[in-house]
Amino acid sequence: MPKNLEQRLIRAAIEASRNAVAPYSGFAVGAALLTDTGEIFTGANIESASFGLTCCAERVALFKALSEGRRKFTAIAVVAPMPGGAMPCGACRQLLAEYAPRATLWVADSARPERVRKFSVASLLPGAFTTFNQSNK
Ligand code: THU
Repeated sequence: MPKNLEQRLIRAAIEASRNAVAPYSGFAVGAALLTDTGEIFTGANIESASFGLTCCAERVALFKALSEGRRKFTAIAVVAPMPGGAMPCGACRQLLAEYAPRATLWVADSARPERVRKFSVASLLPGAFTTFNQSNK
């Protein structure tokens, strides 16, 4: 993946993090998802007074893209204000494993966008549960 594409996606994630609704944690996360045709869908974390309803930036970006009909993703950038950036939580790993299994993950500290850590989505959730049959019915 070209370096400039990586930086474009990281910058889009930083821009998205400005719209985080995080009054409880104060932790603004941004995500930017790249489709196979080069489109970018962004997301930010949205928190609720009922804490468990909070939705991470990664899932917001993914749901936006899926609900607009996109199905193939090549990369996702995630930025958060901490050294090295934040890794996706278990719930986001599950959804990324299902809907962006071949994507690359770029993670960075929002304050240090030039330092990017790289992972494959596939490596984040070994043995992921992604399909089932109904032969038990
Ligand atoms: N959060 C994300 O949006 N993505 C991550 O990868 C880690 C955590 C959010 C959820 C919550 O709003 C805040 O960060 C603190 O957990």
